[in-house]
Amino acid sequence: MRPASLAAARRVSRGLAGPARRSFVTSVRRSQVEEDAMARLTSNAVLFNAIKSGRLIEQDGKAVSVMRFKRPASNGQPDSIVQMEVTKPAEAYLHTENLVLWSAEHGRTTLPLYYLRDLCKCPKCVDPHSKQRSFRTSDIPKDVHPRVVRWDGTHLEVEWANDISGYGRDHTSRWNIKYLRKPILDPHEQTSPNMKPLRWTSNLMNRLQHWVSYEDYMKDDAKFAAAMRNLSRLGLIFVKDIPDSREIVAKIATRMGPLRNTFYGETWDVKTVPEAKNVAYTNQFLGFHMDLMYMNEPPGYQLLHCLENSCDGGESLFADTFRAANIMKNEFPTEYKALSRRHLGYEYNHDEHKYHNTRPVFQLDPKTKELRYVNYSPPFQSALPEHEGKKGSGSQSYPDLKRALSHLIKIMEGQHSVFQLKLNPGECVIFNNRRIVHARNKFNTSSGSRWLAGAYVDEDALLSRYAVCGEKEHTSWKAADPFVGLEGLRRDIAETSAHEAKLALAEARLRGGEKGVEEAGPLGEVGSALQGQDTEPEPIKQSKVSELGNPNL
Ligand SMILES: [Fe+2]
Ligand SMILES: [Zn+2]
Repeated sequence: MRPASLAAARRVSRGLAGPARRSFVTSVRRSQVEEDAMARLTSNAVLFNAIKSGRLIEQDGKAVSVMRFKRPASNGQPDSIVQMEVTKPAEAYLHTENLVLWSAEHGRTTLPLYYLRDLCKCPKCVDPHSKQRSFRTSDIPKDVHPRVVRWDGTHLEVEWANDISGYGRDHTSRWNIKYLRKPILDPHEQTSPNMKPLRWTSNLMNRLQHWVSYEDYMKDDAKFAAAMRNLSRLGLIFVKDIPDSREIVAKIATRMGPLRNTFYGETWDVKTVPEAKNVAYTNQFLGFHMDLMYMNEPPGYQLLHCLENSCDGGESLFADTFRAANIMKNEFPTEYKALSRRHLGYEYNHDEHKYHNTRPVFQLDPKTKELRYVNYSPPFQSALPEHEGKKGSGSQSYPDLKRALSHLIKIMEGQHSVFQLKLNPGECVIFNNRRIVHARNKFNTSSGSRWLAGAYVDEDALLSRYAVCGEKEHTSWKAADPFVGLEGLRRDIAETSAHEAKLALAEARLRGGEKGVEEAGPLGEVGSALQGQDTEPEPIKQSKVSELGNPNL
């Protein structure tokens, strides 16, 4: 480090002594940030009104302006001096409540001082081993503020005045601006681009279905990460070449996270048993549903490992309810709203176990209003919640609910929606139980046997696993993203989706001028998360209605 030339120091001094003294840090050009800082100062003259001194030095060949400001007494605290060291051309401005940082690469970042102190990750504040915080938010004094600020456009260092009691003058907080701009784990934000679902049609799933061998899944971290990437986007993947053992499903599950225990046990079996209490244990057709909707926290993910399947029938069916919900949102907004507001009841009511819960079919994120979960399980539906029943008697409310549910079923059970396959022994399906509905064709036990071993893993565990895979196996995680290389399929997807939405509209019309038809908007991008693929509606052809099958739901 060497001192800058006298002339440079004078230039800075002149800058500070002139009109620019109203801003804390001089800049080569006056930026929006600086003007904003000036405006704030003008309107709040009490604020840091005494600039003590300013000088320009060089650190590692870069010009650093160093200034000291007198912070006026507040809340019984005496005056204090704040030292700002800012590497040009980065800029920093200190206000009563905020520290404003600017750099060409990262733009403007406004950091409330209290929030910033709370965010300290130094070894004193967060134990490096346990990662536990050693202070409480409530311990931070109200007027905590910097004593020293160092900002080079990437790294921020702050030393504190009026710090939490017990912290000495040696306490320094250090951050990278990338962290400060996004301090919350990305994969845990369901609406982040990283977690955006790839909504699939049956055709698309036929092309994109992801299979991984048991060996690779268990032992190859990169291939496991690729499988997790597909699971996160598609909500459905398959494992194959699994050793013939009842114990394996637990191994496959625990590679993702701990087993979710329920009254069915840590793992369970699906096969025909006499006097089955659960419809899944019989050989009848089992319609689309999700598991354990009657619990407070239904399991996020489900595994079904096929051990025997030599019967006629017994195919597994899957559909992406997020896609169906998206079509509803675009084409039947009234019905979409009804299903996102009105609750259905779910129950498991046996001698030893009594569970009940109510949920909307479309569960929206309270903050973003984006779809977060779909809750759908007719086999376990209870009586409609009391208020629903009351509304239903003698009002239009019940028919409204019925129509909305019918629309959803038409879309979800449509030919473009259902992905069907017969699991063979040695294969296991893993799917998102809060997004993908599953069903099973009936099967004939006289022609053979059918046995699946099942397990659940909570959503929390998978979100964590996704985050770890994305970090540790970044290359594989990125390369396996099914959104990559999907460009060529966009038109195909949009056409299929438009066709399907038309069928649903035709079906609704056939039912006699129902409300949803008039309110339906133009057919938009309905079939996938791919943006901007608008398709114009064509006139509804009644002939297509026959493809829908029985309209009497
Ligand atoms: Fe099920
Ligand atoms: Zn700290």
